[in-house]
Amino acid sequence: MTRQKPIQILGVIGDPIHHSLSPAMQNRALHTKHLSAAYIPFHVQEKQLPDFLKWALSQKMTGFNVTIPHKETIIPFLDRLTPMAKKIGAVNTVIRRGSRWIGHNTDADGYRLSLIEEKKAPPPGAHIVVFGAGGATRAILHALADLKVGHIWIINRTVEKAQKLAKEFLRQNPKVKYTALPWEKEAWEFPPETIQMVINTTSLGLKGKDKKIWKAFPWKKLPPKAIVSDLVYRPQWTPLLMIAKHAGFRTHSGLGMLLHQGALAFEVWFRQKAPLKAMKRALIESLK
Ligand code: ATR
Repeated sequence: MTRQKPIQILGVIGDPIHHSLSPAMQNRALHTKHLSAAYIPFHVQEKQLPDFLKWALSQKMTGFNVTIPHKETIIPFLDRLTPMAKKIGAVNTVIRRGSRWIGHNTDADGYRLSLIEEKKAPPPGAHIVVFGAGGATRAILHALADLKVGHIWIINRTVEKAQKLAKEFLRQNPKVKYTALPWEKEAWEFPPETIQMVINTTSLGLKGKDKKIWKAFPWKKLPPKAIVSDLVYRPQWTPLLMIAKHAGFRTHSGLGMLLHQGALAFEVWFRQKAPLKAMKRALIESLK
């Protein structure tokens, strides 16, 4: 009698979790690759993290994704971090090795790969404006440093957070210039005619409103080849991307980062190429 391989369990933990598109995307990948595995959404509150890990170990879970708000709070419960996760200070992918949990971060590489795949990566030395200074911003700043951009202006409502990020990233990447700016447009002292990319890493746009800040942006002074990127992927056409499109700029949606960070997570768990096309189709279908 041949012994059947056990079904592998994977999943995503977050609070809330019902909105996550990862189960649709990852289950499509498992199906396409004929893997006997299931990817389950788990609603886990912060105080339940240790219990979840205990349970996951007892079930011999292969691994899981981590989303808001646990990307940083999961770290003390893990046994080891990859250098990238350590550098970013956040974990979005966990894999079990025996009884140990290893934390990875595929967000920065996911963002970079999505720009490259869509031929929208800024050239070395580029001037970039980034809105936001939260957890998601850190992965984007890492991706931009890897792309060897020249100068990043970080605009944030709480300017102290932008200053802290600018200082920290300058220490790690002395060849890149970082300037922190407050939210008020009167203080936006970047030269707009040199800006090659504008990126929103804040949660503005999740609800499809909040157009005021984007209307204040000096679009008319931007070079026509500038690219506008939004990490928000629902709605796919966020207020920022709508305004940018109408102004004639190329846009980059957050869906690409979601896809590529998921594909890289799949590759961490299964050590084989992820079925990108099938995963992308699943994402587009679940957004309809
Ligand atoms: P995430 O991990 O998703 O990045 P976060 O760390 O809470 O979440 O960061 C959210 C980002 O969106 C921050 O830059 C936040 O600005 P503050 O640092 O000033 O809080 C920004 N943000 C959220 N709501 C906002 C709003 N209504 N106006 C401007 N910025 C907002």
